[in-house]
Amino acid sequence: MEDRIISANLMMEDQTVELSLRPRYLNEYIGQTQAKDNLKVYIEAAKLRGDALDHVLLYGPPGLGKTTLSNIIANELGVNIRTTSGPAIERPGDLAAILTNLQHGDVLFIDEIHRLHRTVEEVLYPAMEDYALDIIIGKGPSARSVRLDLPSFTLVGATTRAGLLSAPLRDRFGVVSRLEYYTVAELTYIVTRTADILQVAIHEEAAEEIGKRSRGTPRIANRLLKRLRDFAQVRGDGIITLDIARAALKLIQVDDLGLDQIDHKMLQAIITSFKGGPVGLDTIAATIGEESQTIEDVYEPYLLQIGFLQRTPRGRMVTAHAYRHLGLTPPEA
Ligand code: ADE
Repeated sequence: MEDRIISANLMMEDQTVELSLRPRYLNEYIGQTQAKDNLKVYIEAAKLRGDALDHVLLYGPPGLGKTTLSNIIANELGVNIRTTSGPAIERPGDLAAILTNLQHGDVLFIDEIHRLHRTVEEVLYPAMEDYALDIIIGKGPSARSVRLDLPSFTLVGATTRAGLLSAPLRDRFGVVSRLEYYTVAELTYIVTRTADILQVAIHEEAAEEIGKRSRGTPRIANRLLKRLRDFAQVRGDGIITLDIARAALKLIQVDDLGLDQIDHKMLQAIITSFKGGPVGLDTIAATIGEESQTIEDVYEPYLLQIGFLQRTPRGRMVTAHAYRHLGLTPPEA
């Protein structure tokens, strides 16, 4: 799973490249029009007032640009950004140390915020609401709480699973933005922009082909572009043409819709072993030897999005579209 070329999860090789490719301001950021338009207004208003921007929660599938957007928010506000993640903050004291080191208006970005420890999360409540830190001094009956003022700051939280956030935490975000899968046109544009930055020659139709096969996800589009660049250099004259793109995508087993062997395996398993479903998530996981969590976070969202899979109260079902895509005849309704 980790080596899957179409995984939306961040891989080692993406990291250095992503940094240089990442848009730094809203006007360079393609797509997510709704989130962008709203943020533009809130950022402008916060700057006019000289206040910190309201806390922002960004949620949606991996690879859609939550981290990029948080950096853009800080750039647009002209403030510093401190980046961390839910599981990285082990104790309440770790978060307290981060919070007391912020300056007025700074952005604190917490990735995977749904994985914050409960005890750490509780430090966050007064920090978000009152810019304050409640410190308990002493133990037992003589223990008392002392309140420490914090600089005003903006918490930007990112999660793939907004449903896992506790209600008190979710309620403390003033701005909640759901990031959507990108359209083929947007992805084509992103591929063209990235090719430009990497100085790779690519034909428009080839960029579009990548756009079509990137599962609505820029991170996947940029990764496919880099693989295709290798093919173009070794098998061609360095230019990514439509022919080269198609041949290479076939070799790396990414189909017309961006599905790979694992998607195929999962759909096939539901069809052959469970007559297309409904079948429970855990049963699917056991059948194909993956973790339920991985299926739910990584494979399933896109298959649901393109209408290949349906969630029913009795489990997952493969749709007629998926049967036809796999060259099979859907069962009678
Ligand atoms: N690279 C990755 N995501 C992008 C986006 N949304 N806009 C521009 N470039 C990107």
